Amino acid sequence: MRILVAGGDGFCGWPTALYLSVQGHEVLIVDNFSRRRWDEELGTESLTRISGLDARIARWRELTGREIKTAVGDLAEERFAYEVVAGFRPDALVHFAEQRSAPYSMIDRSHAVFTQVNNVVGTLNLLFAIGEVSPDCHLIKLGTMGEYGTPNIDIEEGYITIEHKGRTDTLPYPKQPGSFYHLSKVHDSHNIMFACRTWGLKATDLNQGVVYNVETGETASDPVLTNRYDYDGIFGTALNRFCAQAANGDQITVYGQGGQTRGFIDIRDTVRCIELAANNPPEPGEFRVFNQFTEQWSVLQLARLVEKVARSLDLEPDLVHLANPRVEKETHYYNAANTRLMDLGLKPHLLDEETVERLLLTAMENRDRIHPETFAPQVDWRRPHYG
Ligand SMILES: NC(=O)c1ccc[n+]([C@@H]2O[C@H](COP(=O)([O-])OP(=O)(O)OC[C@H]3O[C@@H](n4cnc5c(N)ncnc54)[C@H](O)[C@@H]3O)[C@@H](O)[C@H]2O)c1
Repeated sequence: MRILVAGGDGFCGWPTALYLSVQGHEVLIVDNFSRRRWDEELGTESLTRISGLDARIARWRELTGREIKTAVGDLAEERFAYEVVAGFRPDALVHFAEQRSAPYSMIDRSHAVFTQVNNVVGTLNLLFAIGEVSPDCHLIKLGTMGEYGTPNIDIEEGYITIEHKGRTDTLPYPKQPGSFYHLSKVHDSHNIMFACRTWGLKATDLNQGVVYNVETGETASDPVLTNRYDYDGIFGTALNRFCAQAANGDQITVYGQGGQTRGFIDIRDTVRCIELAANNPPEPGEFRVFNQFTEQWSVLQLARLVEKVARSLDLEPDLVHLANPRVEKETHYYNAANTRLMDLGLKPHLLDEETVERLLLTAMENRDRIHPETFAPQVDWRRPHYG
């Protein structure tokens, strides 16, 4: 297949592009490197040393003889988005290219506006471009489990059958997003669903859980192909931050009580899920939703796991609770369905002590790159800033 990987320089997109290339697909990476610029803005950087996209692509070619094409530009910019789709005419378009940090979207007005414009307009541009020039293209869009929030009933995969006043219908599952970033994903889902219903496009919305681990077989095969490892308070996920804190001899900081429970997935399973979605496209007009996670963990369980493995490596982290900067339930019911990707053949890698040890060892090897001042929560959900 001809597969366009939008956001192919990022944490999920880079390993996905390599994995799809190995499977024999013709891959085009599209990215505007905004993620690298946000690191500069925030005074942080990937814990692992990552190469530029040109160097990555050249090394991939040297190692495998496979060509990955690239197009550098902003998908929220109307001409670029159209020309890149019209020029490549993809069979599948994997869309990772969004601002994906909840705290970043909550910094102030301008970061919230940027996040929603970047994400919602980028997706709209792709929908119109696909609709006009490539209507058979399968849009594989990364959403997030955070769209659903934490309802007091089981979370289904996209839809729920409701009986109301004696009548029954299957409707989109209610969304209770927890940040302006998560809201942008909900807006995307609505826009994509509408485009499928109205223009007959076909799309898969992958409501992904928090992705952990760093490398896949391909990215680990050469230092120039190394993937990014975000650990800071804005872009780092809790598990990565806990590992960096422990490796640096700092306290492991849990927000609030730590009962916040979420879906998680190993990066090696992310790339496989994309392949499964691409190989099994929906029908024209179908808006399909898969919950892309393999297991559920609470923040406190993760912190305790990191603490335990860190102690086995002669680190001595204390586990402390901080006032929660986010507005979220800290103890709640959480049970989300995730069978549809398993039914297509996903065999999950589950989080274990070995994976946490690898994350800790990577953080210890790169200790000189840790910026401990970025661990602390810097964004308060409760205080709007007209910045
Ligand atoms: N990482 C996770 O834990 C996680 C969890 C759930 C969902 N997701 C979703 O998966 C996708 C990828 O996440 P990630 O962790 O790889 O993020 P990332 O920030 O590492 O990668 C996103 C890439 O998209 C690019 N990009 C952003 N806006 C763009 C634009 N307008 N035009 C062109 N390129 C643009 C960035 O430069 C970056 O390289 C996101 O949509 C995110 O919401 C990620």
